[in-house]
Amino acid sequence: MSKIEFPQNFLWGSATASYQAEGAYKEDGKGLSIWDVYTHIEGNSKNNSNGDVASDHYHKYKEDIKHMKECGQNSYRFSISWPRILPEGRGKINPKGIEFYKNMINECLKNDIKPFVTIYHWDLPQSLQDIGGWENKETAYAFRDFSKILYEELGDKVELWVTFNEPRFFIYSGYLIGNYPPSYNDPQKTIQASYNVMLANAFAIEEFRKSNAKGKIGLVHSFSPVYAISDSKEDRIALRNADNYFNNWVLDTAVKGKFPQDLIDKLNRNYDLSFMNKEDLEIIKNNTVDFIGLNYYARALVKAYTIGETVLKVNNSGKAKQGSSKIVVKDWFEMVADPKSKFTDWDTEIYPRGLYDGIMMVKERYDNIPIYITENGIGMVEEMVSGEIDDSPRIEFLKLHLIEIYNALSSGADVRGYYVWSTFDLYSWVNGYEKRYGLMYVDYENNNKRIPKKSYHWYKDVINSNGSILED
Ligand code: BG6
Repeated sequence: MSKIEFPQNFLWGSATASYQAEGAYKEDGKGLSIWDVYTHIEGNSKNNSNGDVASDHYHKYKEDIKHMKECGQNSYRFSISWPRILPEGRGKINPKGIEFYKNMINECLKNDIKPFVTIYHWDLPQSLQDIGGWENKETAYAFRDFSKILYEELGDKVELWVTFNEPRFFIYSGYLIGNYPPSYNDPQKTIQASYNVMLANAFAIEEFRKSNAKGKIGLVHSFSPVYAISDSKEDRIALRNADNYFNNWVLDTAVKGKFPQDLIDKLNRNYDLSFMNKEDLEIIKNNTVDFIGLNYYARALVKAYTIGETVLKVNNSGKAKQGSSKIVVKDWFEMVADPKSKFTDWDTEIYPRGLYDGIMMVKERYDNIPIYITENGIGMVEEMVSGEIDDSPRIEFLKLHLIEIYNALSSGADVRGYYVWSTFDLYSWVNGYEKRYGLMYVDYENNNKRIPKKSYHWYKDVINSNGSILED
């Protein structure tokens, strides 16, 4: 390995999302999101926990940004709560909501931290869910109008925008698996919602190009590079099916402006696609992204689907998990787990090499498009011992992944930044607060006090050395 040295203008950051971090769920005029409603229903979340307070970022953002600065981070990826800006999803703007994000952005800029704004990280206004959510094209129009407000209000100060965080993840969880709101288990609805989200992505990009906002716009994908267990014809077909299922409908559509034709043909055999129309497809074709954000947690290892054989079932995350999860793509492929691999406490395979392979795949397929690694991290159960948190496994995890990114850079990929998930511990959706990802510990029992973990100090050294300590 040559001496590790990341490009001078590389962005070193960390990431959060509004519902998971902010709290203040009905403060200063904020409306309710689907997550506010969902987690308030008994039995929907781990220990009936919710994001009412979360990490209290709404009140502690200045302190949090100060910590980022002290760590040497030069970018912060966060999302905007739609119902904080538009309590009803459309119509009347909440000035306090705009003010909060302006303050956040100004605080970042004051500290030489480049804000990286995610427009949608899953907290849909409940009022829009009430009219059918992402199944209804009206929501795509509402998203377009929401994005326009953001460009007008924040567009002079933000250079990096993404429309959506992980369309695949929130749609499959909400519409196919049913463990996220709106809790459906329905392929037809899944297809409709997927289409409307990719259309909404194109609408928001169209508005961006029309606006005076500076900077670039992209989309963040929940990236599961797919591998097959063999090169047999059956396994190769399974690989293509899985790649379409996990990746291509998002990446091809966002970057090339076109849904994969073989996927459409396959879906057409069993589902009603009559809602797809020429005008929409034209908008999708003409409004593609400037860059791609990749969230990387694990690869997907697959084999041909064999009815009746109980091995491992598909779950949403591209994480092969023993037992519990459901078969969601009958006849297409099956997930398998490599017995030689290491897994996290949540049965997610640890496979750093997948990040290199995945980046190179994106580079080849999409003409060396600029890439940001917008999330990467490991969820752990952690305890404070004598006031300190030794999260050495996280350091090892991040180190191995950063080395793979460096290798991809050395192989010519245009990777421009890296964001650890997450800046501080936060609400892990249906996993509640037990699964911690942060560089900073949040003491939920003690006024949400922030305590930098060992990984925070290590990340600071990585940034200061421009990556060279990764060689040690
Ligand atoms: C990504 C999401 O899918 O993974 C984050 O963008 C999420 O919002 C992260 O928290 C980790 O997943 P989880 O379910 O372990 O919190």
